[in-house]
Amino acid sequence: MSDRYCVFGHPIGHSKSPQIHAAFAEQTGETLSYQAIEAPIDGFADAWREFAAAAGRGANVTVPFKAAAWRLAETLSARARRAGAVNTLLLDDAGKLHGDTTDGVGLVSDLAAHAAPLKGARILVLGAGGAVRGVLEPLLETGPARLVIANRTAGKARKLAADFADLGETAGGGFDEIAGPFDLVINGTSASLAGDLPPLPDALFADGGLAYDMMYGAAPTVFLRWAAERGARTVDGLGMLIEQAAESFYLWRGVRPDTAAVRERLRRSL
Ligand code: ATR
Repeated sequence: MSDRYCVFGHPIGHSKSPQIHAAFAEQTGETLSYQAIEAPIDGFADAWREFAAAAGRGANVTVPFKAAAWRLAETLSARARRAGAVNTLLLDDAGKLHGDTTDGVGLVSDLAAHAAPLKGARILVLGAGGAVRGVLEPLLETGPARLVIANRTAGKARKLAADFADLGETAGGGFDEIAGPFDLVINGTSASLAGDLPPLPDALFADGGLAYDMMYGAAPTVFLRWAAERGARTVDGLGMLIEQAAESFYLWRGVRPDTAAVRERLRRSL
């Protein structure tokens, strides 16, 4: 039987991950299967155990199980420990369950692929939930001049900025405290899902500034539409999804897929 992998989520019906990993497997000649599994909300650990007992070798983990996967893992990468989240599980050679997170490196790879300003840049991150915590370490490692976190609940942004202050110049606060301009603004709130836009000042972007939304869809998000109207270059999160998948694939198989080809194919299928 070929090695089995899967993505756990709830809901999981619209996940693109099976399509992405099938494309990676085809391209690299790796023999594996990859399926989407909807685990019960309170049953993530059992769902993993059942999968592992049926020759499962590793898994991706998405909303709402990333913290549960973090707790279940027997060993954690340093970046996963700090992120408080696991999006990639794998059984090591000794049969121990290892947890890692590839979301942050996925974001940074995609930003780099779009020639986003990073080193020495002024970066604003919107949101202070799990998705943002998960990407801050790799983002700060790119060496921005300053990284500001703004959130509806200002205290959460302040706490997050303090938690990562050892990695660079960070600050946190409410949307009303935002003082631009910024070279890069990343929307990590889930506001786009509800079609909402955080209240943002008009003069947000520096000349040549880039707006990045960690969400994606067939149409641009409200945030990206708002940013385009203010002259910013815009990029959605489809590339981040593909890059984090490629990093997971590498952790499992030791082979790096070519993400550019898959990116085109997936964009056409949206
Ligand atoms: P995730 O895993 O997606 O990060 P989360 O931990 O629930 O989910 O965090 C959601 C983030 O989106 C939070 O920063 C939240 O702001 P609060 O901390 O104030 O709740 C933000 N968010 C959600 N809906 C929003 C909206 N309509 N406007 C602005 N921010 C919103």
